[in-house]
Amino acid sequence: MIGQQLHLGIVLREKRDKMNNQLIEPHGGKLVNCYCKSSEVEKYKSDAVNFKSYTLNDRQLCDIELILNGSFSPIDGFMNQDNYNSVLDNNRLVNGIIWPMPIVLDVSKQFADELSIDDKVALRDKEGYLIAILLIDDMWNYDKLEEAKKVYATQDLNHSGVRYLLENGGDVCLGGKLIGVEHPHHHDFLDIRLGPSETRKYFINEGWNKIVAFQTRNPMHRAHKEIMQRAAEEINGKALLHPVVGMTKQGDVDYFTRVRCYQKIIDKFPENSTVLGLLPLAMRMAGPREALWHAIIRKNYGCSHFIIGRDHAGPGNDKNGKPYYGPYEAQELVENYEKELDIKMVMFKMVGYHKTMKKYVALDDSNIDKSDIMFISGTELRNMLNSGADIPEWFTYNDITEELRKTYPPKLNRGFTIFFTGLSGSGKSTIAKSLYSKLMEVGSRPVTLLDGDIVRTHLSSELGFSKDHRNLNIKRIGFVASEITKNRGAAICAPIAPYEESRNYVKEIIAQHGEYILVHISTSLEVCQERDTKGLYKKAKQGIIKGLTGVDDPYEVPKDADIVIDTNGISVSNAVDEIMIYLQKLNLIK
Ligand code: PPS
Repeated sequence: MIGQQLHLGIVLREKRDKMNNQLIEPHGGKLVNCYCKSSEVEKYKSDAVNFKSYTLNDRQLCDIELILNGSFSPIDGFMNQDNYNSVLDNNRLVNGIIWPMPIVLDVSKQFADELSIDDKVALRDKEGYLIAILLIDDMWNYDKLEEAKKVYATQDLNHSGVRYLLENGGDVCLGGKLIGVEHPHHHDFLDIRLGPSETRKYFINEGWNKIVAFQTRNPMHRAHKEIMQRAAEEINGKALLHPVVGMTKQGDVDYFTRVRCYQKIIDKFPENSTVLGLLPLAMRMAGPREALWHAIIRKNYGCSHFIIGRDHAGPGNDKNGKPYYGPYEAQELVENYEKELDIKMVMFKMVGYHKTMKKYVALDDSNIDKSDIMFISGTELRNMLNSGADIPEWFTYNDITEELRKTYPPKLNRGFTIFFTGLSGSGKSTIAKSLYSKLMEVGSRPVTLLDGDIVRTHLSSELGFSKDHRNLNIKRIGFVASEITKNRGAAICAPIAPYEESRNYVKEIIAQHGEYILVHISTSLEVCQERDTKGLYKKAKQGIIKGLTGVDDPYEVPKDADIVIDTNGISVSNAVDEIMIYLQKLNLIK
């Protein structure tokens, strides 16, 4: 009986605690929800057939998802020019609410030219699903250089956020409120893609009201877990592990791998202390402003505290090795707004593993002998994964190492692309064919040869030799090679590839999946003309063919070749040996 009463008392107290559980208010006072009622969806879909359609790009899809579900509260649409200018100049919306990041719908001038104020636009995903309707209330020319200066404090294209802005940004911004029709579609990790209202509900149900959020775009190891756990203890509360799974920095570990790691690490926290939710945010790597933005977003998710470390959301260094932002600039900016914001900052305390104490310790503890502290840097970890070396358990948990090894097996088992470029008749195909046989002899992976002529027969038969067609041809080759590389094969490409633009594109898409080795077959035009194996140079001279590279079309000599071979002074087998030695050095073959 007494036991029953006690149990009832506990249940009642839990209920009361839940009801009294006051979470931090959303930014601006109210959590935005732009979605229409489910009964209105069909009507909006049929109305939208008569509106001009716009296909959202990846960045815009991330932004719209977070506008529609209230993550960006109080923002309820794409910014008009007044709000935009106010954000750029003052880190605030026109109504005075703190907001540091421009959220715009940038489109081409051509698209904007067909629109007027008060028009409605059907915003669709790449498959054509209607995500939202935009009610245009403003249109203005996008001054991207100005935004770069004010938001990123630099116009340097080496800054990834600036590069995105200047190279991908549209010409005109459309401002206006949004009516959400369908949630952007996701097919992965659905049970942990919690929006702000679901996350708030979770906290309320669990009776949590002091919650510290941890932002990350990297896999997590023991040190990160320590930092999060210490932060939760410091505030005497709970923790939200809130990784970004939208767009992060190029070269980051893909989010599928990361989420598998987070799912493993979440089990290592004390029971009922930490929850994992995914945030489909498109990061800008804008350092201080981005940190402030991150804090606001977490406030909308119901978090009372947010961890900010050294160089939060930093884009790395410029080409002179100088960081774009000071290491504590992000913390300083957030501190300036902390009182008004309500969400509190928890400074990320660096920890390290103490080899004699056999535990993680705070580095700011003056009683600790720093020479006993061990670290493994990101580069060291990558090297260990590349070589298949053991990764110590003090650094990370074995099940996390296992997940990382699935994506990053030793280099011997990874894919790569060898991309030859050079004039017609320079010897690319001959060397490529011989290299193909050598790699088949080694037999460690499937090998695919994408020779210029073969590609033009099977992949690009409708293309000619104009600049646009050549670039398209090379991009197609790059796409196929990147898929081969991703699937751990070896791709050998041997087109002329005369233009830097498409070579750079190819490099970028392949390097995401494996090694990209550029081999410039530098045999001179004179030698190629002398050989004239296919009679092309003779034909060009007689005007029978036009646009032959080196004759009446340019060849842009690569500045970034890994190997340069002039076949005038070297035999085919020596050239192939040189490449094989290079592959051995990279540990791609034994
Ligand atoms: S490109 O620029 O990379 O797209 O060219 P590529 O696809 O490698 O070219 C494949 C072969 O096409 C021949 N070729 C030409 N034929 C007619 N007119 C012109 N302008 C022309 N340019 C190239 C040539 O045989 C190429 O093969 P290789 O092996 O380079 O000689």
